[in-house]
Amino acid sequence: MNNKENTYSFKYFFNNYRNRYLLGVVWLVLVDVLQLVIPWLLGDFTDRLQLKTIQMRGIIYYALIIIGVAILTAIFRYLWRLYIVGTSQLLEKQIRENFYNHLLKLSTNYFNEQKTGDLMAHATNDIKAVRQAMGPGVVMFFDALFLTVATITILLFKIDIRLTLIALIPLPFLAIISTYFSKSIHEKFTAVQEAFSNLTDKVQENFSGIRVIKAFTQEDKEIEKFASANKLNFEKNIDLIKTWGLFHPMIQFITALSFLIVIWYGGTLVIQGIISLGDFVAFNSYLGLLTWPMMAVGFVINLIQRGTASLKRLNKIFAEEEEIYDKNVLDIDSIEGKIEFNNLSFRYNEKEEYVLKNINLEINPGETTGFLGRTGTGKTTIVNLLLRLFNVNDNEILIDGYDINSLSIKLLREEIGIVPQDNFLFSSTIADNIAFFDPVNTDRKEVEKAAKITEIYDDIMEFPNGFDTILGERGVTLSGGQKQRISMARALIKKPKILILDDSFSAVDTQTEEKILNNLRPVMKNRTVILISHRISTLKNTDKIFVLDEGQILERGTHEELIENQQLYYDIFQKQQLEEKIANIN
Ligand SMILES: Nc1ncnc2c1ncn2[C@@H]1O[C@H](COP(=O)(O)OP(=O)(O)O)[C@@H](O)[C@H]1O
Ligand SMILES: [Mg+2]
Repeated sequence: MNNKENTYSFKYFFNNYRNRYLLGVVWLVLVDVLQLVIPWLLGDFTDRLQLKTIQMRGIIYYALIIIGVAILTAIFRYLWRLYIVGTSQLLEKQIRENFYNHLLKLSTNYFNEQKTGDLMAHATNDIKAVRQAMGPGVVMFFDALFLTVATITILLFKIDIRLTLIALIPLPFLAIISTYFSKSIHEKFTAVQEAFSNLTDKVQENFSGIRVIKAFTQEDKEIEKFASANKLNFEKNIDLIKTWGLFHPMIQFITALSFLIVIWYGGTLVIQGIISLGDFVAFNSYLGLLTWPMMAVGFVINLIQRGTASLKRLNKIFAEEEEIYDKNVLDIDSIEGKIEFNNLSFRYNEKEEYVLKNINLEINPGETTGFLGRTGTGKTTIVNLLLRLFNVNDNEILIDGYDINSLSIKLLREEIGIVPQDNFLFSSTIADNIAFFDPVNTDRKEVEKAAKITEIYDDIMEFPNGFDTILGERGVTLSGGQKQRISMARALIKKPKILILDDSFSAVDTQTEEKILNNLRPVMKNRTVILISHRISTLKNTDKIFVLDEGQILERGTHEELIENQQLYYDIFQKQQLEEKIANIN
């Protein structure tokens, strides 16, 4: 990658792999030279046959040369494929790796704005298009260039100028037709792929949502939708077949025109004794060699156009800057866990309203703090900011008295253990999910201990393979509460200085919740804990509770103090008690 401009270019690729490409082109040209030898030999051979100046030994001599040429051609073909097409694969690997690395560095904001499908399309189609331009594109370019120039030169000077000029007239049309058709075929082929992926997406979605479909008796409608997607797929395929079906006959027709000219005019020249029979035979063979390069011109034009467009799209993504990065970080390798917010206001986007307004708070190391508030009041946002998932102004958030912007992202995220609200488990074993932070150095005992603390151990032991049960598509399906408890175990195993549970008990029943909170107490001694919930039962034993509403801290204090205040917290408390009572009656 060109660091200055942060962009890829075809020139950069060539420079980077100059030797491989040079060697590849050398092999390619050697193959072409060998190809040119055969018609020459054929012509010679014919003349000598006609003049009867050849004996049996001579025939063997020609046969051996032809075999030798064939063997060398095979070897050189293998080599250019390895050098040019192989290099383009290497290049694709390199771009893909850089692309992935680049994406992982971008902020979470970027992924909110981009559709995953679009990114996947860039990662597959665009990178492939660049590879094809740098592989097959390069091959065809040099192949066509050399074969065309060499063949025409031979025809002009070895055989006959007039015959050559007349016979070549139809050939440019080959290039024009293949340019048009290869574009059209590519478009239709893309349409086929889209139609098919649309079809499979539809089926996949329907099978995952089969219970909803059945519950709402939508089977017939879904069958209809499937039939129309299937029909579309069929039609796109037929479209493609029609285009292919036209392409080949047209090429053959134009090639035939050339041969027609040669038979008519070339034949006349032979009869008039202007060229020999051998020349005539050689001419026909050379003409046959020209068909492919003419078609290749069209293919190359399209490959390069597509490659250029794809490169442009990729470069645009590569130009995306990291939003959050370390700058002048302090040399600190651990934290105590003190958190301060200094009149912090925050909005996700300059066009949007403030999500957090004038937040002032202080959490001491070792304290357990609760955040209470309705959905959308900014609780999760506070957590995002503590993890530096979004940028804040200097000195708005302090950790251990240091500005959060002066702490390295790595340190911060290592020292904070978070159970995100939208918890996510990977399709690997339960043990690997729990030991996600450091799978290699975490032994099974620690995993089990964490599972016991979060009251998920017994559930796991009931699964067929215990901790080695694989989660995901064909594995065990977990309930929401089980997922939350596994996520909690995952955060605990990091032994974080700051533990954040963002609405982590929403799918856990209150009794289990109480057990987990009790189990946590000894473990979290000397660690800062933040509990986020809309349930007062989760928070009532914490050292301090912040009540948030519409991005502001409305109230703060212990459970008892807040009850005494008789404001929002008290209202919510009363409401939830009432709900509990009703639930108990039922
Ligand atoms: N990544 C984001 N980009 C833009 N707006 C967001 C983003 N995340 C949350 N918000 C908005 O910020 C507000 C607070 O959200 P959040 O912090 O998730 O609330 P809570 O966790 O209290 O339910 C909501 O209005 C939400 O729509
Ligand atoms: Mg939230």
